[in-house]
Amino acid sequence: MLKNDVWRADILVEALPYIKKFWNKIVVIKYGGSAMEDKQLEKQIIKDIILLRYIGMKPIIVHGGGPEISQEMLKQKKTPQFINGLRVTDRDTMDITEMVLTGKINTRLVAEINLCILEDQGNGIKGIGLSGEDAQLLMVKKYTQMDLGYVGEIIKINPEILTLLLEKDYIPVIATIGVDTSGDRFNINADTVAGELANVLKAEKLIFLTDVDGILRELGNADTLISSINVQEAKELLESGQIQKGMIPKVKSALRALEGGVKKVHFINGKRAHSILLEIFTDKGIGTEFVSVDN
Ligand SMILES: Nc1ncnc2c1ncn2[C@@H]1O[C@H](COP(=O)(O)OP(=O)(O)OP(=O)(O)O)[C@@H](O)[C@H]1O
Ligand SMILES: [Mg+2]
Repeated sequence: MLKNDVWRADILVEALPYIKKFWNKIVVIKYGGSAMEDKQLEKQIIKDIILLRYIGMKPIIVHGGGPEISQEMLKQKKTPQFINGLRVTDRDTMDITEMVLTGKINTRLVAEINLCILEDQGNGIKGIGLSGEDAQLLMVKKYTQMDLGYVGEIIKINPEILTLLLEKDYIPVIATIGVDTSGDRFNINADTVAGELANVLKAEKLIFLTDVDGILRELGNADTLISSINVQEAKELLESGQIQKGMIPKVKSALRALEGGVKKVHFINGKRAHSILLEIFTDKGIGTEFVSVDN
C-alpha cells in the first residue's frame, strides 16, 4: 500500500468510532457572527454541518451576527456599545438587530443550506429558519442584572418545534430574537440561547464556532490555547478576568450546559477550514474542549 493510502485509511479508522458514537445525537452549533466574514468559508461551514446530518447526527444552528449588526448601526450613525459582551440595545438598535439577524443572516444561512443540499441531491434533508418568536420557541423577559434596553433573558424555551423538525430531517437555523408576555421583542445573546437549547434538548454536544482558536489563557496570544479545560479551571479564568468580552457569555453558557448534562462543549475557530470535522472526528481535536471533570 502507498504511504498516502495508509494515511487516508488511518483518518477513516480514527473517525469511524466517533461517527458511530454520535449517530442520532443532537449537536447544537453556535455559529458566531465573528466567523462569518469570509463567505467562501461560510459555505464550507454549512457543507460540514450538512455532512454531520448526512451521517446521522442532528445539528441545530444558533447564529450570531455581531459584526453585521454593528456595521448596520454605523451606517445609521449609531455607535455600538457593549457591557460584559452584551450589546446595549435601544429601540433603533433592536430594529436593526432584528432586520440583520432574521431578515439577512438567517435567510442567507437557510438559503445556503438548501442550495448545498439541492446540489448534492441530499434527499429529504432541508434547512429551515426560525426565530424565537416562532412557535413560542424563546420566551423572555427584560434582562434584570442591569438596564441594557431591549436585551432579554430567557424565561422559558418551548423546544417541541425543534423536536418535530429534527424528526423530519430538517436542519433548524435559529435567530435569537425572543418575545415577552406582552409581545415586545428582545435581543438575546446567542451564546446563552445555544447553551439553554443544548440543555433542554439534552444535546450531546455544544459547539461554539468563533474567530479564535479556542479559550486562550492570555488573550491575543495564540500560543496560550487551552486544549482541554474543566469546570473549576473555567471558573478560575472567569474570576481572574482572563476571559473577557464576547468570551464571557460563551463560557458561562458552557458551564450551565455541562451542569445540565450536555456531555462536552467545544470552542473552535470558524475561520479555519473544516474545524468542525477536525474537532469532532479526530482524537486530538483542534480547539478547546470543555468537560465537567478532567477525563
Ligand atoms: N480568554 C479568551 N480566549 C479567547 N478569546 C477571548 C478570551 N477573552 C476574550 N476573548 C474574545 O472573545 C471573542 C469572541 O467573542 P465574540 O462575541 O467577539 O464572537 P462571537 O460570539 O463568535 O460572534 P457573535 O457575537 O457575532 O455571535 C474573541 O474574538 C476574543 O477577542
Ligand atoms: Mg459574541
